[in-house]
Amino acid sequence: MPKHADLTALIPSRYPLLQAPMASAQGSPLALAVCAAGGVGSLPAAMLSTEALQAELHMLRGQAQGPWNVNFFCHTPPEPDAAAETRWREALRPLYDEAGIDPADVPAGAGRVPFSHAVADVVEPFAPPVVSFHFGLPTPDLLARVKSWGSKVLSSATTVEEALWLQAHGADAVIAQGLEAGGHRGMFLSAELGTQLGTFALLPQVVRALQIPVLAAGGIADAAGVRAAMALGAAGVQVGTAYLCCPEATTSRLHRDALMSKAARHTELTTLFSGRPARGIVNRLMRELGPLNPATPAFPLATAAVAPLRAHFEKLGRTDCTPLWSGQNASGCQTVPAAEVTAALADGFD
Ligand SMILES: Cc1cc2nc3c(=O)[nH]c(=O)nc-3n(C[C@H](O)[C@H](O)[C@H](O)COP(=O)(O)O)c2cc1C
Repeated sequence: MPKHADLTALIPSRYPLLQAPMASAQGSPLALAVCAAGGVGSLPAAMLSTEALQAELHMLRGQAQGPWNVNFFCHTPPEPDAAAETRWREALRPLYDEAGIDPADVPAGAGRVPFSHAVADVVEPFAPPVVSFHFGLPTPDLLARVKSWGSKVLSSATTVEEALWLQAHGADAVIAQGLEAGGHRGMFLSAELGTQLGTFALLPQVVRALQIPVLAAGGIADAAGVRAAMALGAAGVQVGTAYLCCPEATTSRLHRDALMSKAARHTELTTLFSGRPARGIVNRLMRELGPLNPATPAFPLATAAVAPLRAHFEKLGRTDCTPLWSGQNASGCQTVPAAEVTAALADGFD
């Protein structure tokens, strides 16, 4: 039996290949293109309004060829903390001064809401074939609700402990997210970055520890990467960065240019843009404040204070304060349709 039979039995796509949900960089057009090419397309929903989520779900249900995935965050929102917010704005003051922005005029705000019964009310009529979560799983009653529609449930693990926790709490499959991965680390049991493992170290240990299928994520950008993941026992793969320069993605021009340049060879984990560690191409904000500056407030409260700075520099054609999410291996980024990226990756399943 091929190794990926476990996953395609659960999620019956042509290839055991998930396009990673990438909030801020794509919507249903990328997901639909990947589905049409035989993979599982994903919709990142963490930053969508109710209306936008509904519209995207209509598109996916109406047009997807094969199974598709909707992705949510399940963090616990922090209590607003005025002192932490002041500290953060103080750390950003030199940039506010340079941009001519009065920090008192900058609204605070969350920007990302966790999965909830209210969100589930919107999703339920669409019964997505797959629902994936980042930062753990929702509460047991919410998870039971998602499963009652028939959705298969996936979540990311960054350690063996998290993978075991997800299996014990009802995940149908686990995404082993290696340290190479772009965007937010899905870590949820420990905030200690020293616990984080690279894909080649994490994947075989998770495969050995679990009874459910394991997908590999982080640094996979071509067929050889897919083959390596499958050789280490993965039942499938989840790939993000390699899709960022496809025409169907909404990645900004500035972000695309950075991904296709030598700058993409230097990524770091940073908390500056949201409050949680996420991997992106090093830019001015990361260099000047340090990527893990202790003044950064709790997730997701860091975002609002950076937003006007980001907008100011982007108007000048600069990425000084722009999150340039990318994995460590951006070598797969090409300006080609998502179907081509999917076909190239799928060559690794033989
Ligand atoms: C631009 C970007 C945005 C991301 N946003 C999300 C997200 O909204 N939800 C999620 O579960 N993972 C998100 N991720 C992480 C991916 O799920 C996945 O772990 C990662 O892309 C795999 O590594 P790779 O980028 O090296 O392929 C994001 C990744 C990137 C590059």
